[in-house]
This record gives sequence, structure tokens and C-alpha cells, in this order.
Amino acid sequence: MIEHRDGTFYLQTAHTSYWFAVTEHGHLEHIHYGPRLAIQDPSALRWSRVARGGSTVAYAPEDVRYSLDTLPLEFSGIGQGDYRTSPCEIRTAHVGYDLDLGYRGHEVHAGSLAARTLPTAHGTPAEATTLVIDLADERAGIEVALHYTVFAAADVITRRVVVRNTGPAEVVVEKLLSFQLDLPEASLGGAPRLITFDGAWIAETHAHDRPIGPGFSGVSSSTGSSSNRHNPGFLLAAADADEDHGRVHGFNLVYSGNHLGSVERGATGLLRVAGGINPQGFSWPLAPGEEFETPEAVLAFADTGFNGLSERMHRFVVDHVLPARYRRTPRPVAYNSWEALSFDVSERRLLKQARRAADLGMELFVVDDGWFAGRKDDTAGLGDYAVDDAKFPRGLGSLVTKLSALGLQAGIWVEPEMVNEDSELYRTHPEWALRIPGKPARLGRQQHVLDLCNPDVCDYVVASVGALLDAHDFRYVKWDMNRHLADTHSPHVRAPGMTAHQYVANLHDVLRRIFEPRPHVLLETCSSGGNRFDLAMLAHSAMIWASDDTDPIERLEIQQGLSYLYPLSTISAHISNAPHQQTLRNTPLSTRFNVACFGVLGYEYDLELLSSEERKEVREQIAFYRTHRDLFQHGRFRRHTKPHPDRFVWQVDDGDRTILGNFQRRVVAAPAPDLLPVAGLEPETTYRVRSKPQRLMIDRFGDLINHVTPIRLDPRGVVLSTAAKFTSLTDAAEEYVGTGALLAQGIRLHHQFSGTEYHPGIRMLGDHGSTLYVVERLEEGP
Ligand code: GLA
Repeated sequence: MIEHRDGTFYLQTAHTSYWFAVTEHGHLEHIHYGPRLAIQDPSALRWSRVARGGSTVAYAPEDVRYSLDTLPLEFSGIGQGDYRTSPCEIRTAHVGYDLDLGYRGHEVHAGSLAARTLPTAHGTPAEATTLVIDLADERAGIEVALHYTVFAAADVITRRVVVRNTGPAEVVVEKLLSFQLDLPEASLGGAPRLITFDGAWIAETHAHDRPIGPGFSGVSSSTGSSSNRHNPGFLLAAADADEDHGRVHGFNLVYSGNHLGSVERGATGLLRVAGGINPQGFSWPLAPGEEFETPEAVLAFADTGFNGLSERMHRFVVDHVLPARYRRTPRPVAYNSWEALSFDVSERRLLKQARRAADLGMELFVVDDGWFAGRKDDTAGLGDYAVDDAKFPRGLGSLVTKLSALGLQAGIWVEPEMVNEDSELYRTHPEWALRIPGKPARLGRQQHVLDLCNPDVCDYVVASVGALLDAHDFRYVKWDMNRHLADTHSPHVRAPGMTAHQYVANLHDVLRRIFEPRPHVLLETCSSGGNRFDLAMLAHSAMIWASDDTDPIERLEIQQGLSYLYPLSTISAHISNAPHQQTLRNTPLSTRFNVACFGVLGYEYDLELLSSEERKEVREQIAFYRTHRDLFQHGRFRRHTKPHPDRFVWQVDDGDRTILGNFQRRVVAAPAPDLLPVAGLEPETTYRVRSKPQRLMIDRFGDLINHVTPIRLDPRGVVLSTAAKFTSLTDAAEEYVGTGALLAQGIRLHHQFSGTEYHPGIRMLGDHGSTLYVVERLEEGP
């Protein structure tokens, strides 16, 4: 809901309020973003102007107490006495850098307003209202429209900016962020924290939490994509906020390119938060009459801790970012050929895996890299779409038909933004790759980036991928992108600083053209794992491959980091072999599942190598996941505050059912009893909490196994390794009963094994151990 009264704009969501007012000089003064307040005269919250600040510059000679440097502002210009960083730098022909943006008018629209050039969140008139505030500096010939869309039930407000050149000469936009928000530090307890999600390839989105010191803090990317270095999303939290208490602001961007998110802490008691396109390497000329629009920023607030904030962000992504066709559709359990077969795929080899995948209960079979002509390794083939006849003598159609006969949907991997020099496409069109004229282009993973600023390249990609999808009954596509941009120069844009942004805008257009007309295809996007995990990719895809790292211990950090801003239905998580390909860590099959099930489950195993015990375990895992799929993909997810740095506790619930995951990264000798709190249950209803049955593979125990076997066995001998294929121990079967109020105190879990004795009630966790707990309702409270 949006109300305009006496020069103040009141943006109201179900639980939050965002207010600002037009000042006596026409600037927009930010008043409040926090808990919902009843609409009223906001004077008591406005910034005091009763004294002049020393060395400040007065905006107007007749009003010496009005300085832009000390006011909380909605969007600053340049050179008017506000010495904090401006969200916009526009170079005009006559004065260079000088912009005084004053209020000229506003309009309110029912529903969201789609951007012309970029994906944006969508809301019907019943779900969303949009306020467009027009600011202008007539002398500079610049109009700036600030868009605010209020998603009331979702408790989210989005912001974006459209700038227009109304003057007679070209201007150059050198920086234009999507939003600025000047928040009082005091609203975050005076000691605010910044939480960012950072990493690298195979170690994406680790949460980092630190106090905000003076000066600048923030995140950015310059890789051409939203990057695995720093996710565009970040949080600000009060000093005392935790998972379930305290004030938290969340920010994200519907953008897949170079981004910047910053917090500037000055001495005025205000934090300037801002975000949008990274100005590094960006500049956008505007001819008279032309416009430029920023990506959309997403803002949310909660005073119920990080979980409260996450719940709002999750709901918003599902209801307003994902394409409607993917919203709550169940994601199938996938088999993906990559980790088991790498490039060495063929109809014969794939079908061997497929028969087992179908038998174990998987639903989708994805042919990953290696299926097209020339693709023997990563040096060749990208850019071409002809199938490799030697690997698929009867074509892909024959495989798809056989998969279908096995009851499996077929899926295919593509990497359409790239080209190898050893490809028909590159031989025909070397000029289609991004490069600096006169300089050899740099390779990443042996490949060039196609110049998506070139409309012919876009048409080629749309036609090629479209033809592949139309020729076969693929129900799923994995769209990959395996290198960063470099040599970011295209002859198809008017100025060099336009290339990176135009690339991203055109990519979204290409995705729209391919996938909107083919709604039966489930799209998963990927960029060497989570190198492009952002809301703009989710405006096209159902989910994103979170990381090439499937080691569950690493995944605890990665998936937990993502969970702050992204719902589980968008986080693709697979199980692969142990020891793990990248970390060499040996983890139990149970833990690999227990982590991956909090997301969209899949397997990348060589299924021929599964022992009979492992097959039984995988079959049960899949059956369990399919039974509770709705909960794991669409339930409400909570992180429990970590009782210890090496423990993670996750919970999903949907009002009826609750499942918890208790994970131990590293065992502690002589541990105190583990507490397992169960949140969100009805206080007086009685529940039973039972561990999900899982196997302990006996080869894990080495020589210890001799304590429970009648005969002595060599832990490295053939008897034990053979026995381990056909027998296993049952992990502790635990059962606890109590009311919701009691269970919320934290169940004191059975003791962990500590070498003193073994019996079936002892929890054998060790390093990397984990258990799932299923909560069932026994008796309604009075
Ligand atoms: C990237 C992806 C992997 C796999 C390979 C194929 O690394 O992240 O999942 O698809 O490419 O080359």
C-alpha cells in the first residue's frame, strides 16, 4: 500500500513501513525503514535541523541550516554539498559533474512495472503497487525516475532508477546505482554488522559477518557475472541480532552482471547503503531523448532475526521472481552424468547408468557435457550443436526414447555463451568472440566468450538451442557458463563501457526467447557451479547449480550461505562419490544425502560402483525425499543458531510436518549432550521425534569392527571389504516424545560414541556425521 499525505510518502507492507518526504527544497528525505507504523505525522522521526554543522556547506544561502551532507536522502545528486558517495555520476556536456535532483511529481500504478531491458520482479495489481517519483535537474537536462514497488504481503520493496537525457547534447552515465538508503545507525543498535556471502569456485557463498567500521564496506564483482567472489545479496544486522531475534535488513539485486553493494559509515550517525551496477568499466552515453534503466534492487526488513528476513526473501523469490510456471512445481530427482562420466558419454554408457537410476527411483536423467561433435575434452566443440555420431550412432532421439521407456525424463547440458577455437562456429565466425582489436583474446577453460552484444550471435544461440529442444523431448536444460569475461569489447555497442552490461541484458533476452515459448522445459542455470547465483537468472530458471563442490561438509557452508536469501527450491544439490573429487574428504553416504535433501536432490555417482548396501541406502533416500519433497523444496526453512562452530542444525516445516537435520562437521572428544531445538511447533500439542533410519557402512570403523564381530578381521583385508558391500550396521534409532513447548527447549540427544562402549542407542557420528529427525504429531493439545 502506498499513501501520499502532506508531502510524505508512506509505503506500507504487512509488517514494515518505508517513509520519506519531500523537503522544503525539493529533495527526498528518508524518514523510516523498519517495523510497520500506523500512518501519522512523521515529524518526530525527521532529522533535526536546528543547528548548522561546522564546515558543512549550506544548500541555499537563505537557509544555512539545510545541508545535504547531514540529511538522510533517498537519492543524492552530485556537487551539492553531500560528501557521501553519490549513487549517480552523469557527465553533462556543459558543466561536467553537477546534478541537483529535485522533486517534480509522482504517479502510482497498480501492480509492478516491467523494465524494458532487464528482468524485474512481477506482481499483479492485487499483490503490488508501484510509485514512480520524478526528479529532475532541468539545467543539466537530466530526469531521474525512482521506481518503488511495494509487495505488501511479501514484505518486500523493490527499487530501480530510470535516467533520461532531456538536454540537447549527449551525456554520459558513468555510475547509476539502483538504490540508496540512508539508515540511522541507532536503528541497528549503534553497532551494525554487515553479512556478505563470499567465496570462490567450489567454495561459494560462505557467510561472513563483521562489524561495520568507519568508511566503506561492501561487495562487488567485475567478472562479467554476479560471480562466485561475492554474491550481490548482503545483510545489515543489529549487534544483537541472531537467527531468531533482532533487526535485520536484506538487500539483493535482480542482476547477473558486475555489481556493487556498499555501506558507508560516516560521522553523522547515518549509514549510506547503496547497490547496483558496478561503475568500474561502465559508462553509458545517452543521446538526447534516450533513457537508461538500472537493474532492480530488492529490500526487506525483519525484526525477527535472520530467519524472519530469510522467510520474507524466500517467499518473494518464489512468488515474484521465479517464472510463474516454476513457482511451486516439484523439481524431479535427477541423475547427472558429469562427475561419473565426465566427457566420456555415449548412448551405451549412459543407458547403463540410466537403468540403475530408474531402478533406484530417480526421475530425470541429464546428459551433461560431452555429447556434441568434437567434445572429447574442454578444448573443442563449444559453439556447435551437432551430436557426436560416434558416441550416439542413433542420435540423441534414440537415447531419449529409451530413457522414456525406463520412466525417466531426459535433460541436456548446453553452454551456449561460449565457443572453442576448435569448432565449426569459430572457424566460420572468429569475429563472434569478444576481443580487444589487435590483441589476442585470453582463454578461460580453453574457451572464448561469444559476443552477445551482436544480434546475429543472439539469433544463432536462440535458433540452435531452440532447434535442439524442438527436435527432442527434453524436459530439462542445464545452461552453463564456465569462465569469466575478459577482453570485454564489442564492435556492436556505441562505447566501450557499454559491453559488459549489454552482454547481460542480451543474455536475458536470449533466455526469454528460448524458454518462454517452451514452458515444458525445466531450466537449471549454472556457471561453474554458483558463479552466477542471482535473482536475474532465477527470473528464467527454476533452480541454480549451487557449486561444483558436492562434498557435504563444504556444502553445509555453501547451502547455508545461500539460504539467507534464496529458497531451497532454487538450490540444486547433488550427491557424488567419496572420497570427494575436489576435497578428497571421505564422508558417509548418509551425510551426503542429509545435506543434499535440503534443496533439489540429484546424484552424480557412478551407479555401477554402488555396493548392494549403498544401493539399498540410495533407494531409501530417494523414497524418503520423494515422500517429503514438498517440504524439502517448498517448506519453510530455518537455520538454528549454531550451538558450536562445527555443528549445523537445519529445519524445514510446513505447518503439518517438520524435519530437522543435525550435522557435525568435526567430532569433539567427551562432548556435552547435544541439544536439538525444534522450533515452530504448537506448544500444547504432543509430538514424536524419530531419527530417519540410515546405515553405518562397516568399513568406516576399521579395526573397531572387531569389538562387535565374533571373529577377528583385518580392517584392510578382503573379508571386511567384501562384507562391507553386503552388510551394514543400523545407525542409532532415536525416539523422543514431548509437547511443542518441551521440544522447543531442545531435545537432549542420546550420547555420541566415545570409545567406552557400543550399543544401538549410541549415536555414531564421528567427523562428518549427521542425522535427520522427523517430527510427527501424536496428540492435539487441549
Ligand atoms: C561446469 C559445471 C559442471 C559440469 C561441467 C561440464 O563445471 O559446473 O556441473 O556441467 O561444467 O563441463
